[in-house]
Amino acid sequence: MNIDNIKEQFPIFNNKINNKDLVYLDSANSSQKPIDVIDRMYDFYTKEFSNVGRSVHYLAVAATNLYENTRISVQKYINAKDKNEIVFTKGATEAINLVANTYGQKNLKEGDEVLLTELEHHSNYVPWHYLRKLKGVKIEFAEINNVGEVTLESIEKKITSKTKMIAITHLSNVTGAILPIKEITQLAHSKGIPVLVDGCQGAPHLKLDMQDLDCDFYAISCHKMYGPTGLGILYAKKKWLEELPPYQGGGGMIERVKKNDISYGDLPNKYEAGTMATAQVIAFDESIKFLNKIGIENITKHEKDLMDYGQEILRKNNSVKLIGNPKKKGAVLSFTIEGIHPHDIATILDEDGVAIRAGHHCCQILHDKLGLNATARASLGIYNTREDIDKLNLAINKCKKIFSLK
Ligand SMILES: Cc1ncc(COP(=O)(O)O)c(C=O)c1O
Repeated sequence: MNIDNIKEQFPIFNNKINNKDLVYLDSANSSQKPIDVIDRMYDFYTKEFSNVGRSVHYLAVAATNLYENTRISVQKYINAKDKNEIVFTKGATEAINLVANTYGQKNLKEGDEVLLTELEHHSNYVPWHYLRKLKGVKIEFAEINNVGEVTLESIEKKITSKTKMIAITHLSNVTGAILPIKEITQLAHSKGIPVLVDGCQGAPHLKLDMQDLDCDFYAISCHKMYGPTGLGILYAKKKWLEELPPYQGGGGMIERVKKNDISYGDLPNKYEAGTMATAQVIAFDESIKFLNKIGIENITKHEKDLMDYGQEILRKNNSVKLIGNPKKKGAVLSFTIEGIHPHDIATILDEDGVAIRAGHHCCQILHDKLGLNATARASLGIYNTREDIDKLNLAINKCKKIFSLK
């Protein structure tokens, strides 16, 4: 695979940052966009724009067909059984809120337990916290081990007769740990517990097969998959979408509205109230084409090679401490340097065009557990190269020099 060629497909890399070539190592936050995705948004707005699912004029019908075509592409990409199991949302955050809200409303009562892990992003904690406040639901946390992973055993330890939902990340955005989702789901289902997977970091890097994983819900963030912002996906098994109440009310999600009663539309309209992110959905089809052209197996392999290389280089670098060393790890390199605050690291690296993220990465519970306020994080995407890792290391050395570290 020619990575230079792939980088050429991303116009952002034509720009200089602080007079330097951009070394973009913040893809876990959000990925850059290939030209085909950008062009598709432009073409849609300039030549094809209409709202979808309402009018019968030419543009409206054509736009509706394009919108529904992306739903089918997503269904195929994640091997869902039915296209109506794909619900578009404004992000993974909204997808998780949708489940917590509707499942919580219908199926959770005081004393019921929701099992999360210590790795969870705030997006997969705060929506459950609302249910704690609202209904007296209890939240339990499966613990990480000393290499920053959550094992099947640590999940099993926390399951009780009161566990009514297991909501877990596929791939940690801090330690990079990849959780054994299929095994966790099998265990959960043997006890009649549904499983929600926060797939924000899984979907851009790993092959997805909903029928094989068998989880009940899977939340996806399109802006981390070389797609537009303002768009997420909730995969949910049809039986849940049929059974659960709607999330938001408004136009497009109803069948019949009377003064004294309302009936709701068919799936997936029931969960897509109001005007949706039409251009983003239509452009996301190009992201899927882009991913398919390279092949997700090639993406996983390329990123793993780079991550292994990055770990090797950073381990040799005095004073750099890598956070987490899980056996199965995704393309994330979180680290600290003793004596330098991660925000200072990120600011100094930025002078060399090296874009990383510093902070708690929306995982304060994990950072508390690790006894840290913040970490620096270099996260990889398909456009990264070994040269990027070398530049990261050089910039870290410069940073250490400024702080008189060896
Ligand atoms: C693990 C994880 N979960 C959830 C989210 C939230 O996703 P979105 O930006 O699509 O709402 C993120 C994004 O940073 C994430 O990394």
